[in-house]
Amino acid sequence: MSQYPIGQSYLCCAIYSVIMRRNIVIFASGSGSNAEQIVQYFHSNSSVEVSAFFTNNAKAGVIKRGNRLGIPTVVFHTEAVKNGSVLAALKKISPDLIVLAGYLKLIPSSWVEAFPNKIINIHPALLPKHGGKGMYGMNVHKAVVENGDVESGITIHYVTEAYDEGAPIFQASVPVNSGDTPEDVQKNVQKLEHEHFPRIVEKLLSE
Ligand code: GRF
Repeated sequence: MSQYPIGQSYLCCAIYSVIMRRNIVIFASGSGSNAEQIVQYFHSNSSVEVSAFFTNNAKAGVIKRGNRLGIPTVVFHTEAVKNGSVLAALKKISPDLIVLAGYLKLIPSSWVEAFPNKIINIHPALLPKHGGKGMYGMNVHKAVVENGDVESGITIHYVTEAYDEGAPIFQASVPVNSGDTPEDVQKNVQKLEHEHFPRIVEKLLSE
């Protein structure tokens, strides 16, 4: 028999999950499939909340996803980064983790200072290969094929003021077979992203 009456133990659980609640925000400039995957992963986990999507692209697919999923979605102009209002909004939310999932702009040093080791990014290749300015989306997968690489993969890493240079957190790889097109590589890499990214976010939140 339980030590507490059921009502009391339920209350303890509820209080615990409120106290332990972690919140994250997700930045995306494009489709937002990874952002959605993360929301779905935590759907039935009351101790993790996706507080908002942020996008710098008024035409980004992530906006529709946010509306469908009921996630508040902030569309901001570059000016709002320069004048500090995006940073002010982030400070107000005070996220435990800022997740970049296909966000194409550089992160200002003021953000990195305000959220040390709390900003992470996913890159669709095995860094340090195929990273840096201009290396995003299909450009990465074309470079992998043109280079004759026998494998590609994903890198989840902390974010600094430079593109794709922060300390790696996690990598997973997938073979590139002869005859694979950049589209094939993209498909295989995306599978890895959806499989691992939410899991790594969860792990970081629990540390
Ligand atoms: C992913 O390939 C991610 O690795 C990269 O941008 C892409 C975003 O895809 N940083 P999606 O918008 O989540 O579908």
